[in-house]
Amino acid sequence: MRGSSRLRRLAPPPRAVDWAILVAVASAVATGLLAWTGWLPPALLVDLHGIVGLTLAGLLVFKFARVAKRVLDRRAWDRATPISILLGVVAVAALVSGAFWGLGGNVPIGPWTTLNAHVGLGLLAIPILLVHLRARLRLPSRTDASRRSALRLGGLLVAGTIAWRLSEAVAALGGTIRDTGSKPTGELYDTETEGGSFPVTSWVADDPDPIDRSDWSLTVAGLDSEGSELGYDELLAAAGDERRATLDCTSGWYTVQNWQGIRVGDLLDQAGVDAEAADARWVRFVSVTGYRWSLPIAEAREALLSTAIDGSPLGHGHGGPARLVAPGRRGFQWVKWVERVELRRDPDPAQWAVTLVSGFD
Ligand code: HEM
Repeated sequence: MRGSSRLRRLAPPPRAVDWAILVAVASAVATGLLAWTGWLPPALLVDLHGIVGLTLAGLLVFKFARVAKRVLDRRAWDRATPISILLGVVAVAALVSGAFWGLGGNVPIGPWTTLNAHVGLGLLAIPILLVHLRARLRLPSRTDASRRSALRLGGLLVAGTIAWRLSEAVAALGGTIRDTGSKPTGELYDTETEGGSFPVTSWVADDPDPIDRSDWSLTVAGLDSEGSELGYDELLAAAGDERRATLDCTSGWYTVQNWQGIRVGDLLDQAGVDAEAADARWVRFVSVTGYRWSLPIAEAREALLSTAIDGSPLGHGHGGPARLVAPGRRGFQWVKWVERVELRRDPDPAQWAVTLVSGFD
């Protein structure tokens, strides 16, 4: 009792809490998605995501203390209350799973890691929050924007930042977590070794049948010409390059491997499309499933079309006969089962949508 009245005395005004929650949820979703998809360099974003998440947890404590009576008294319910309760459950689950992952925990459910669950719950909260806002949104009043409420909200942000710093220190005891939030592989799954001792995962639904290398060929196309076609043996004969590169998967693991293959710049030059390369700004890599990703040409030329890991031919699960190795990019951008490399004048915004649906017939 005494604890809850102390909490009430410390609480910023109700509308200030609600609007701060709205800003915190929007920031958490934005920083989380931008970092996780590799849209922007993750270092600062992931820190901000952690700070915002822990500040949101503090805001929700005040919010739940305020609305507890309304929720516990069935007579006070209206049509929107069950949705509010569902939002509370999903938001808490998203926060707990995020903190658990950040502290080094993982309880896989089928192929999904706790990081996947956290991302899923965070995204699920958005439509539920929109329904909640439709029923409950109130504009803040002048008292909500007082100096006192600014100080209290500022205090919560400072507390969130300190809690995040402490959680970072605890997480560091458990081993190296990258800026992307990924952990070294080995601890997460029973690894299915197909030439490389790291998990076989695919973005969304891509799952082609194993490819017969004697039937497979790689097309290297120019802007307006079909360029050339290489069989597997021809590609192997041309592949004399190696990169030590980190594959960082959005499931939350990473692995450092030695990848052998052909530098994409050499592949383009050997295919005779170099005359057109002057007008090309992008290179697109297309999988047998239709999955595709494009890189700016300067970056693409330094990337590797890999045919082997540590001297062993790339297994089917890892994208054999050939996959893109794009250092610094997230795993889902390292296109597997590549059958076409083509020059482009423009970027390819539809690739985001294609990655979500390419595996469905
Ligand atoms: C993750 C975010 C949020 C969670 C988990 C959450 C949860 C809840 C819960 C459990 C209730 C009590 C049940 C009810 O009265 O329907 C409630 C009420 C309410 N919520 Fe939220 N909410 C969130 C975000 C927001 C936001 C962003 C706003 C407005 C900007 C808002 C405004 C309100 C209002 C006005 C009420 C009525 C109770 C009161 O006035 O004190 N909520 N919320």
